[in-house]
Amino acid sequence: MSPLLTQAHAVAEKAHAPYSKFHVGCALETETGSMYTGCNVENASYGLTICAERSAIFQAVAAEGTDMKITRLSVVCLGHEFPPCGACRQVIAEFSLPGGQTEVTYLKEGQPVTRTIAELLPEAFGL
Ligand code: THU
Repeated sequence: MSPLLTQAHAVAEKAHAPYSKFHVGCALETETGSMYTGCNVENASYGLTICAERSAIFQAVAAEGTDMKITRLSVVCLGHEFPPCGACRQVIAEFSLPGGQTEVTYLKEGQPVTRTIAELLPEAFGL
């Protein structure tokens, strides 16, 4: 397994997901070569939940600042498989490489699948 998938799996164990039971982890690498991780954190007031991907991205912004760019990002859910949700795709796009070339990896039928954010979110909204 790639280092990012391994780290995403490890941080998924930390998820606070007592409601959905979906324990999600994300690991990303930025242009500086640094890695950041995040997990989903749910709340009894369901709408306050934050996804693993946005948790990791906000860590990266806090560490590196607004010019931070994501080169690659991996997401893992214990016992389930899915690509990033629509909200997280939009946030990945905000910090993607030019042309949406940031690579996003997730598992499908047990195998890693890699797509660019441009493929996952074509014609992304931007100001
Ligand atoms: N979740 C993520 O962390 N990332 C996604 O891309 C989709 C969903 C979380 C949110 C919630 O805690 C649980 O998975 C079920 O929706």
